[in-house]
Amino acid sequence: MYKKIYNFFQSEIKVNGKEKTLSKIDLKKIFNINNKKTINQLYNFSKKLKFFELTKKQINQEFNKVKDLTSQINDKSSFKRLPIWNKGWDDNLQKILNFSKKIDIKSSLTKKTIPNYYLRKKQRVFKLKNNKFIYPKTKNFELKFHRLILHFINIKFLDKIDCLYEFGAGSCQNLIFFLNLKKKLRVFGSDWSASTIKILKLIKKNYQDRVISFQQINMFKKFSLKVHENSCLFTFCSMEQLGKNFKNFINSSLKSNFKIYVHVEPINELSRKDRFGKLSVNYLKRRNYLFGFLKFLKNLENKKIIKILYKQQVFSNSFFDCWSIIVWKKL
Ligand SMILES: C[S@@+](CC[C@H](N)C(=O)[O-])C[C@H]1O[C@@H](n2cnc3c(N)ncnc32)[C@H](O)[C@@H]1O
Repeated sequence: MYKKIYNFFQSEIKVNGKEKTLSKIDLKKIFNINNKKTINQLYNFSKKLKFFELTKKQINQEFNKVKDLTSQINDKSSFKRLPIWNKGWDDNLQKILNFSKKIDIKSSLTKKTIPNYYLRKKQRVFKLKNNKFIYPKTKNFELKFHRLILHFINIKFLDKIDCLYEFGAGSCQNLIFFLNLKKKLRVFGSDWSASTIKILKLIKKNYQDRVISFQQINMFKKFSLKVHENSCLFTFCSMEQLGKNFKNFINSSLKSNFKIYVHVEPINELSRKDRFGKLSVNYLKRRNYLFGFLKFLKNLENKKIIKILYKQQVFSNSFFDCWSIIVWKKL
């Protein structure tokens, strides 16, 4: 099954239209923002993202293929997948180690910590918020969009944050991105994978005190952590892996003193109501990905335990609405 999806991602679509980039109006809609300064800043970062728009016929063809493939998926996320993640991050670790013999690790980390699943030639259709279906021209389009999201989070939510705690940090690409972007930021990293912890040890060697510490934490289980003042809890597609078993993680993190909680995860409640949205919900169920998280947070909000500050579905591929941003704080 995995091979079928992989081949599908590699298959090309013939496009004739004009090459485009994101307009300021696109960005305003994607992130649901009005602040001109923020829109201009994001516009500058987004210029590299070039794409073609698909015709109705091509969108229909894409829908039919994806529907057929989704119905065959039987590969579920679960606690049994730890060896697979260990193997993935071990590959990244080896790449860093091989590279660092020749080049200063600090300058090489960013490239070497990009997960393989971003580096495959994944030139596939993406949906934008404004109902546009696009086919990337730019190489590693998804990865570059990932960076655009991190820039948005930095501009909008990290201004008064001193420390960022990532759970499910994987190859640590986000931590390194933020360490390089915000020169005074300090970070904490965790994952259930031992290979991630080895990568974090290397990062600490280079960034020294800016890495507060790191810890192997299984997000299925309860944890307890003393956090620094003005800290942000951050997850990027790691809660995704928890399915419906996210309560231990959120309840434990509520007990820690985070100033703000920022998640980029697939959120079924924010999926669109059209045929692709339904496909997305079906995909989340088949993969046993995060489900019911926003409903859970809204319940906490009704009980006046938390306040949701921002929620927006920002990016989708043709299989599912993979990246929504949710930001909340404790009351
Ligand atoms: C899709 S990767 C995302 C990695 C990283 N956040 C990023 O954006 O590059 C999912 C990560 O979640 C981690 N993960 C999955 N289940 C976990 C669990 N129960 N506890 C802690 N980490 C987990 C995996 O090891 C992996 O590093």
